[in-house]
Amino acid sequence: MSRAQIERDVPLAPRTTLGLGGAARYFARATTDAHIHEALRYASDRGLALAVLGGGSNTLVPDEGFRGLVLSIETHGMRTSPREDGQVALHAKAGTPWPEVVRFSVASDLAGLECLAGIPGSTGATPVQNVGAYGQEVSDTILSVRALDRRTLDEVVLTPEQCEFGYRDSRLKRDPHRFIVLEVSFALRPGGAPLLRYAELARAMEIVAAEGAPTLQQVHDTVIALRRKKGMVLDPEDPDSRSAGSFFTNPVVSHSDAERVRARARAAGLLESGDDVPSWPQPDGRVKLAAGWLIERAGIAKGHRRGPVGVSSKHALALVHHGGGTLAELLALADEVAGQVEAAFGVRLEREPQLLAGVVA
Ligand code: EPU
Repeated sequence: MSRAQIERDVPLAPRTTLGLGGAARYFARATTDAHIHEALRYASDRGLALAVLGGGSNTLVPDEGFRGLVLSIETHGMRTSPREDGQVALHAKAGTPWPEVVRFSVASDLAGLECLAGIPGSTGATPVQNVGAYGQEVSDTILSVRALDRRTLDEVVLTPEQCEFGYRDSRLKRDPHRFIVLEVSFALRPGGAPLLRYAELARAMEIVAAEGAPTLQQVHDTVIALRRKKGMVLDPEDPDSRSAGSFFTNPVVSHSDAERVRARARAAGLLESGDDVPSWPQPDGRVKLAAGWLIERAGIAKGHRRGPVGVSSKHALALVHHGGGTLAELLALADEVAGQVEAAFGVRLEREPQLLAGVVA
């Protein structure tokens, strides 16, 4: 990477779905893996902190911007290879837009990613937060993650075990400055049936595919339609989609905490007879609650506004930027929302999108 390819004072807001935050003092675009190596050397030679930017759909850029080098991962491409077990491996470069990967897998009749349609962002980000929706997570199919280890500058291939995946969690997320994802490989099932584990999706598919077995393409399209109704498909015509998706993770609490939430909801008259607090038992005995439900029942209505920022009018879990705002305003709104949920239910919501941050290489 020649010095000429390093740009100065590049606004980052247009590179994020929220459209918030300041500029990068130094900015590099990497369209090859070699560019990534070179950008790391550039930063370390000059003692610059380096932060990695993917698709910008899950990143919060500070209003003061970033004083080091922002490395935009724009490598692109996919290939498949047969596996001995009859599955097909799909290898996608980190910068490949995720919706493209899902569309390609579905068009190739490869099952395993169809419920993850319409999620904005880059492929390299998917293992970091273990992207999931409608009953599927990338960790269900990830074979390996090829990454650059910033400690040694060596390329490493991480197994799923080494990635330590959890709900919206991984080792890559917990140790954010250690690895830069270069390529992700998925094991997919040729001709496999779509996954209909999520009740809302299964119900919608009963209407779409009333006769015969649902196809991967039908599930893909139905997921997009469900997401669109929730403002979760990027669309310049939909102001609710100017968000980072879910702003909080769904809280996973102990059985007794879930009972306490149920009791508080009942005492507050929030449950009609026969209704229950939406909850999903986890394999470890804990219970996942629906943050969107808690937010609404804590008294924050969809469409709630605080000047230029607000809660989506379609889904209480998404915070939206209406234009002309700052990240500080959005974070103040997030504190208000989380504070109200904690006061009502004693449950602390955790932020889902990541703050753009870097370390000196
Ligand atoms: N709900 C409300 N009010 C709302 C939103 C939701 O009461 O404003 C209730 C719903 O009625 C339902 C429950 O909450 O009973 C769950 O809602 P939904 O099915 O919309 O899913 P979610 O739990 O809010 C999660 C993921 C989404 C993913 C969907 C579908 C997290 C943090 N979010 O949302 O992922 O698309 O399930 O699988 O796990 C993302 O991570 O950015 C994201 C969009």
